[in-house]
Amino acid sequence: MALKVNDKYLASFIAEHEYEGIKPAVRAAHETLTSKSGLGNDYLGWMTLPEDYDKEEFARIKAAAERIKKNSDVFIVIGIGGSYLGARACIEAIKSSLYNSMKKDTPEIYFIGNTISPTYLNDVISLVEGRDFSVNIISKSGTTTESALAFRVFRSMLEKKYGEEGAKERIFATTDRKKGTLRELSTAKGYETFTIENDVGGRFSVLTGVGLLPIAVAGCDIDALMNGARAAMGDFCDPDITKNDCYKYAAIRNILYRKGRSVEMLVAYEPSFTMMNEWFKQLFGESEGKDGKGLFPASAVFSTDLHSLGQFIQDGSDILFETVVQFSKAQRDFFIEKDPTNGDGLNFLSDQNMSVVNRKAFEGTVLAHTEGNTPNIVLEVPELNEFELGYMIYFFEKACAISGYMLGVNPFNQPGVESYKKNMFALLGKPGYEDRKAELEARLS
Ligand code: PA5
Repeated sequence: MALKVNDKYLASFIAEHEYEGIKPAVRAAHETLTSKSGLGNDYLGWMTLPEDYDKEEFARIKAAAERIKKNSDVFIVIGIGGSYLGARACIEAIKSSLYNSMKKDTPEIYFIGNTISPTYLNDVISLVEGRDFSVNIISKSGTTTESALAFRVFRSMLEKKYGEEGAKERIFATTDRKKGTLRELSTAKGYETFTIENDVGGRFSVLTGVGLLPIAVAGCDIDALMNGARAAMGDFCDPDITKNDCYKYAAIRNILYRKGRSVEMLVAYEPSFTMMNEWFKQLFGESEGKDGKGLFPASAVFSTDLHSLGQFIQDGSDILFETVVQFSKAQRDFFIEKDPTNGDGLNFLSDQNMSVVNRKAFEGTVLAHTEGNTPNIVLEVPELNEFELGYMIYFFEKACAISGYMLGVNPFNQPGVESYKKNMFALLGKPGYEDRKAELEARLS
């Protein structure tokens, strides 16, 4: 039993013939993807990764994780976008959103290089003071400003604390196999390296060393994660949406998009899913949002956000639909005891597990929101563990590729990400950007 699409709550939004009507588009997208004839077809390495990943490197990742667990109180993971979100998402989903504060025999893990905030950087520096730490710098290009800047700071801290030789044992670089500044630096300094293959784009790279090293350091079972992804790889090959839930999900979101639902809100009733929401937002936002097209990926954690966004979803403009990831079993349940005095009037909730109350919140909400004209796709997941997460990651990746091809965009590039960088470099006076600098400064003044 793994992730299943429950379309029960879509009955009043999508008619049977509409599923029939979208089938040719899904088949065409499937054909484009599997024949590797579509836009961005040199970035399809993620499709077979769960099976043909580098086993030697996988073993080195596990060995490195064991060393880091033994010699470090803190593990600093430096990266941004696809070189950041997946690892953090998996760790929080499997362990807890409170991972760093929990009692554990694994290092605290802090993610930096995902912002240029000096305040945040100073805060993390203060957290490693007086403690043993190791660093994982993750950058496919090896030139991303945010992560390169953070690495400069932490590399120097390591060298001061442990000396050049000692620091070398505590720096792990995940980057391109051959090219880039980080590859060159790692070779020169003798750091242990892990590879992001050319044909795996950043946002599709969580099941490579990018995600696997930090996830293993947190004590998660990366074999089970890969097994889950491999199971999904086997399950989502049929072009028929009645036999392939991944394609069915892609079909539904495309039908809803064509009906004017331009925002997809990914929802879960577990705070530990918050960073998975962020990973999902990058995956779909960077893959679909181009050429003036694409669903805007948003997210919420319920019931928390029912007290903030709930009003809009129930009653606001009809721009969105929800995709609810619903777990059948809580990771750690809590039994609500009866209170003999019932002074707070809550005994109607008692004598049962809190997961039952959470489930009723979901049931009440899905009925209310659909009644309020917001379509709900429900993804039923047995539980939140490594296997199911690996399965879900592959499900979303493949659904994303199919969705992109159905829209007619290249799901594997991100040309829009460059614009801010060029402006930032020009304004900072990077050599080669002189003309743009003058033009931008005129516009700012
Ligand atoms: O999906 C992507 O390609 C991006 O989000 C990148 O992962 C991100 O920009 C970081 O790039 P790099 O790994 O080259 O530092």
